[in-house]
Amino acid sequence: MHLQMNRILKCFSALPKSLHTSLRSYYDCTEGCVSFEEATLLYCLARYVHTGCIVEVGSYRGRSTVFLGRGSLDGSKAPVYAVEPHTDFVGILGGVFGPQDRRAFFQAMLNCGCSEIVSLVNLSSEDFTSNWRKPVALLWIDGDHRYEGVKRDFECWKQHLNADAVIAFDDADNPDLGPRRLIEELTTHEGFIEGLTIGKVSVLCRETEDVRNDSE
Ligand SMILES: C[S@@+](CC[C@H](N)C(=O)[O-])C[C@H]1O[C@@H](n2cnc3c(N)ncnc32)[C@H](O)[C@@H]1O
Repeated sequence: MHLQMNRILKCFSALPKSLHTSLRSYYDCTEGCVSFEEATLLYCLARYVHTGCIVEVGSYRGRSTVFLGRGSLDGSKAPVYAVEPHTDFVGILGGVFGPQDRRAFFQAMLNCGCSEIVSLVNLSSEDFTSNWRKPVALLWIDGDHRYEGVKRDFECWKQHLNADAVIAFDDADNPDLGPRRLIEELTTHEGFIEGLTIGKVSVLCRETEDVRNDSE
């Protein structure tokens, strides 16, 4: 298995009891669309970021953002950029999102001690990524799950990814949604491998020597 994925899986499957308890309390005081296991995976992914920043696309009321923020705080304190326009939006599965979510987002950052590690970018990626200058080590995409939406978001960030960047997609288990179609394209044509799946979250990284040797 890819070394990075191995480390992340170890973190996920061997959480100390005290950490499990505090993550549970962050989960219980936030709102979001990921399960506790999926949120814990995000915590582990953020904790193993060493160089570069963390970008989240689609933050809603801040649950997944808090897990990225707490993971970063327990790791090397990589900055977390939460990209979320908080404008009226109806998701492909019928979810209704909008400006009413902004207050809960800020409240979650304050309640969970993440207001200094997380910066909210209250825009859609295509509005600003052409001027972006910070290398991205972890990209978590949970915005518009239509194929055109998820593809647009990935294309905006692709040029900013570190060589060993990790990309995680939500709702990757549904063959009718954009994330699964995009993952198939990235693994078939663009040299990515799907290294880890927890619940409906899939984690990709670029195929490297150690992975190729491992599977030979
Ligand atoms: C499923 S929710 C995110 C849930 C969140 N990640 C969690 O589990 O805590 C999807 C979010 O994507 C946002 N969204 C829609 N279009 C977007 C875009 N172009 N860029 C970033 N976010 C977008 C919506 O406003 C909504 O808040």
